[in-house]
Amino acid sequence: MRTIDWDHDRDCVVMVDQTQLPATYTTYHAETVAQLIESIRTLRVRGAPALGAAGAYGVALAARRHEADEFAVYADAVAADAEAIANARPTAVNLSREAERVLEELENSASIDAARERTLRLAHSIADADVERNRQIGDHGAALLSDGDTVMTHCNAGALATVDWGTALGIVYSAHEADKRVDVVANETRPLNQGARITTVELLERDVETTLIPDNASGLWLQRGDVDAVVVGADRIVLEGGEQFGDQGVVFNKIGTYKHAVLADRHDVPFVVAAPHATIDTERTADEVEIEERDPSELREIYGTQNAPADVPVGNPAFDPTPMELVDYLVTETGVYEPPLDRAAFVEAAEMAA
Ligand code: MRU
Repeated sequence: MRTIDWDHDRDCVVMVDQTQLPATYTTYHAETVAQLIESIRTLRVRGAPALGAAGAYGVALAARRHEADEFAVYADAVAADAEAIANARPTAVNLSREAERVLEELENSASIDAARERTLRLAHSIADADVERNRQIGDHGAALLSDGDTVMTHCNAGALATVDWGTALGIVYSAHEADKRVDVVANETRPLNQGARITTVELLERDVETTLIPDNASGLWLQRGDVDAVVVGADRIVLEGGEQFGDQGVVFNKIGTYKHAVLADRHDVPFVVAAPHATIDTERTADEVEIEERDPSELREIYGTQNAPADVPVGNPAFDPTPMELVDYLVTETGVYEPPLDRAAFVEAAEMAA
């Protein structure tokens, strides 16, 4: 099944419950908007494009759960839910973008029945478009790789971070389809271990030769020359760096991405970012992007077992910014770009993608 979808029998959102991986492959049904928001916060569903679909289906769910005599009252109630969904996590732009798109569809509807039908239809088309775009990203990105290459990846930017196929890992899957054998070194990705728990599961399922390493070993792998490219996804890309990064773009992705970009640069290994135009925020500068700070318990405990003094102060940012000067290739559904990026062209592409 897809990472996130609509269950027509139960009339609700269904998703792969990623909190249960790798032990169990199970699904979770979000029957209410509160359950959907909780699923986003606890990372049952995660990864920027999958969050975009969660935002879209979430508003379609809200449209089906509210009832009112007057359309304006109904639309206000759904709008309040849409805002809560959009704010469930702050960094991946896809979540708020797709929630807002579906809300707009609702507001342009002539009746509650029409709104319910139109919002679900749009959510489906957002999900379908994600899969199609990822295939295109995969094909463009695979052209950068050669038979026998080894790719290092961080976090999970695969099928389970999208509706299907994946962005960074989509490139690996497309390379395999093109008869290029590409192996993967997966960083564990502390503290929530998306690399270990999720990336390795989907790579092994697709028979990709995979080596899991602790985050601290990635420098050694690059130093030894055992990696031909580092390929990651993105939660939000901005085209202007603001005060800290100036007029270059910035990629926000899983904490630790920046460190790998610096290491790749040090060892002359291409650093590749794969993301759809829907992940490019053409409106904000890097200064305006909120980096999610997650609960200290994610470090003070490991799977419920104490890992540090219960009262030790903790810094737990979920993402970090990588300036475009460290990115060799940005792969989107429209092609492969070598920074510095042509800002105007990306603004235009984002408008067309909307
Ligand atoms: O906290 P997560 O697991 O949602 O973080 C996910 C990532 O950082 C991914 O690399 C990013 O969303 C790209 S997914 C194609």
